[in-house]
Amino acid sequence: MQVFAKSSDVKEIAGSKKGVTGFVPTMGALHEGHLSLVSRCRSECDTVAVSIFVNPTQFNDKNDLKNYPRTLEADLALLEQAGADLVFAPDEKEMYPAPDTRVFDLGGLDDVMEGPLRPGHFNGVAQVVTRLFEIVGPQRAYFGEKDFQQLAIIRHLVRTLGLPVEIVGCPIRRGGDGLALSSRNALLTPAHRAAAPKIYAALQKGVAMMPDHSVAETARAVAEAIDSDPLLQTEYFNLVDAATLRSVGAWDEAPAIQGCVAVRAGEIRLIDNIRFK
Ligand code: PAJ
Repeated sequence: MQVFAKSSDVKEIAGSKKGVTGFVPTMGALHEGHLSLVSRCRSECDTVAVSIFVNPTQFNDKNDLKNYPRTLEADLALLEQAGADLVFAPDEKEMYPAPDTRVFDLGGLDDVMEGPLRPGHFNGVAQVVTRLFEIVGPQRAYFGEKDFQQLAIIRHLVRTLGLPVEIVGCPIRRGGDGLALSSRNALLTPAHRAAAPKIYAALQKGVAMMPDHSVAETARAVAEAIDSDPLLQTEYFNLVDAATLRSVGAWDEAPAIQGCVAVRAGEIRLIDNIRFK
């Protein structure tokens, strides 16, 4: 496994590889969720490239950026084990020699859910992902459904910018208690960590209510189940058309419906989602 800090180096080596290069962008603090993407990439591509970069332009909250876990040595050991070939771990100056002022048209997919709550977040994701694609030049890139809105936005970007990358969406990996794996879980207090599995339990309860209960009743019940724990506060729970991310009013309004939730657990925000149909 080769590790690079300079974009010109990784660009040259990645560009010299024969066959299909698959790419897994991450912000590090790697867990089984990230590693499931790497192993899918390993099984489908000739060269596996991974990036580790905590991208400042996607953090709207300075404290969140400061507290974001950084575990580079452990990450590299995990990636070596998982069979990665190339790791790109630049610093901020390397990634942004000058401020990135590009503003992307995200087709309104950023007007809902995480968008208004994290102003500038998805534009920052678009900035870094387009740069990383340019540097690594992959034919395929792997993203988790954990960040359902992000995945929809990346697909939109690739389509509208005509980028020659195939986007592969990968299922959410959960702990044995159902909590979706996330680098931010490590920042939860023990009490909040103990409460957090109720989020997935509430999502499952919601799925079981369909189709006998209306969309509105189901949405209310999911939020109430989460908020019944005093350590959890639902920021939103939306039942959305999986393609457009627009809220639906009835179960037959869209061919695929996803239930997406954001929950505040003390200082930490957690997101999760589940397929309703
Ligand atoms: P990060 O949060 O590190 O996640 C990297 C990738 O791992 C994303 O595609 C995310 O959806 C996926 N992932 C995280 N937890 C997962 C889980 N439990 N199961 C399956 N996949 C999971 O998402 C980002 O970084 C950044 O926004 C990035 C795309 C790297 C741009 O900076």
